[in-house]
Amino acid sequence: MIKIAIVSTKGGVGKTTLAANLGALLADMGLRVLLIDADEKPSLSKYFPLRRRAENGLTHVITKGVVSFDAISEIDLPALPGTLDIVVSDSPEINLSDWLYSRIDRAVRLKMALRSPDVVDHYDCVIMDSHGGAGALEDAVALAADFLISPVRPDVLSGSEFMDGTLRMLERLESSSAIGTSLGPMRAVINCLRRSNNSRMVADTIRQNFIRMQGRVTVLDTVIPDANAYQVAATEQTPVHRHDRHRSGATPCAYDVMHQFAWELIPSLRGVYAGQVQGGRSVAREATHVG
Ligand SMILES: Nc1ncnc2c1ncn2[C@@H]1O[C@H](COP(=O)(O)OP(=O)(O)OP(=O)(O)O)[C@@H](O)[C@H]1O
Ligand SMILES: [Mg+2]
Repeated sequence: MIKIAIVSTKGGVGKTTLAANLGALLADMGLRVLLIDADEKPSLSKYFPLRRRAENGLTHVITKGVVSFDAISEIDLPALPGTLDIVVSDSPEINLSDWLYSRIDRAVRLKMALRSPDVVDHYDCVIMDSHGGAGALEDAVALAADFLISPVRPDVLSGSEFMDGTLRMLERLESSSAIGTSLGPMRAVINCLRRSNNSRMVADTIRQNFIRMQGRVTVLDTVIPDANAYQVAATEQTPVHRHDRHRSGATPCAYDVMHQFAWELIPSLRGVYAGQVQGGRSVAREATHVG
């Protein structure tokens, strides 16, 4: 099973969009995917329609320290070869970051909850969305993952804020790691690249700067363009790779971009396509057996 956390120190960079679309693509490749909406503002919970809403959600997972079926809701997407389920965010009355902060096991509580049999025996991949901040819940999400994905938008301001904020976040998490868990590697993905020289220049600068972070962060080769398709697909509550399959013009279609993204993250999935049920499912599941 692979556990991925989408994190950022900055809001509005595309975390939820990426979590939803990566999850849906992997499920369309035949994987059994569990999304976890760990943002107290429940955007991922509303991204796709639900077929069945469980009686519990994130509050139960954090406070009980276990992920059980009664906290797992089912997403309703037609003709899905795999599975796409979700632990919805449901905590308006209790601040989970504050609650966690008072716990001695706060750093590892979510990581341990993901070892529940209802997760380990039923899913190939867990994708966690988080709030762009620095609370105990965000730390628990990052420390529960095998690796972190951090979208960065290549405008000058967010590029430099990304460098500073990310370094601070990594330092904080690395010190939490000292108390019982280790932090996975971080992969930055340039998101919302506009077709202008300036954004390309900034994207190059971001790559150069990351080289100086001494391997703590690698920048993926896949670049996600700024395209209307991502917003339209969200409005239509459909995965972007299904919505934007072919396009003529310079910007690559979301079907190609999202496949490149998934293949770069999980190289053994290379050659597996969405909707290719026969063969794809077993290759895809094999690909995620990382322990
Ligand atoms: N590649 C893209 N091209 C165009 N628009 C995009 C792209 N990715 C995301 N967006 C849009 O950017 C906005 C912010 O995206 P999203 O909500 O995913 O960010 P977030 O990091 O989860 O924000 P928050 O910090 O509020 O949780 C949304 O309107 C979304 O549709
Ligand atoms: Mg979000």
